[in-house]
Amino acid sequence: MLGEIAGKTVLDMGCGSGVYADYFLSKGAASVTCLDFSAEMIALVEKKFGGKVNAYVQDLSEGLPKEKDATYDVIVCPLVLHYVEDLTKVFADVARVLKPGGYMVFSTHHPFADFECSTTGNYFDRELVQEEWNTVGTPVQVTFYRRSLTEICSAITDAGLLISQISEGTVNEKIKEESAEIYERLSKQPNFIFIKCQK
Ligand SMILES: C[S@@+](CC[C@H](N)C(=O)[O-])C[C@H]1O[C@@H](n2cnc3c(N)ncnc32)[C@H](O)[C@@H]1O
Repeated sequence: MLGEIAGKTVLDMGCGSGVYADYFLSKGAASVTCLDFSAEMIALVEKKFGGKVNAYVQDLSEGLPKEKDATYDVIVCPLVLHYVEDLTKVFADVARVLKPGGYMVFSTHHPFADFECSTTGNYFDRELVQEEWNTVGTPVQVTFYRRSLTEICSAITDAGLLISQISEGTVNEKIKEESAEIYERLSKQPNFIFIKCQK
């Protein structure tokens, strides 16, 4: 969904440890800017890439107050937006800082998958979900927002962006080698949704 990266100005929102920054640098991006809520993640990215990226701490629920209008060709935001309660400000600022013709690609929890966590039983409610994840060796409490596909799409289109592509993903064949059961499950029950929106 990302397309050609060479020569593009890229913003990585919620960059984490810099997996995508690494990809953009390897593909010859003209510039890579990384932001994250976590100062630890930003320190990690600065240590990894030094002056090759511009990295700073930013809470996306406040939008992108440090960014100038029409700066970026490409914005990515992989698996971050479910931690932000109100998407209105984020998408308004994404529309503002994208260059004309620029685009954003993001992934988030699939609304249908998250509906399993609903306590109200109303798909259209936005709900703060608390779960225990055991993916790093020790159980960790995680909170995120569950919301409808309508709420996600409205935040995008109300900001004046056009949704140009939606994917529910395909499972990498390599997963089969690690666990046939996980491969089979994810092939039938997608956990994430991927959306491309255009200015
Ligand atoms: C699941 S990780 C994804 C990291 C990276 N995008 C990736 O795909 O490898 C979620 C990241 O979002 C960041 N994050 C959570 N809430 C945020 C917020 N309100 N503003 C900015 N970043 C946030 C976390 O600190 C974390 O680095």
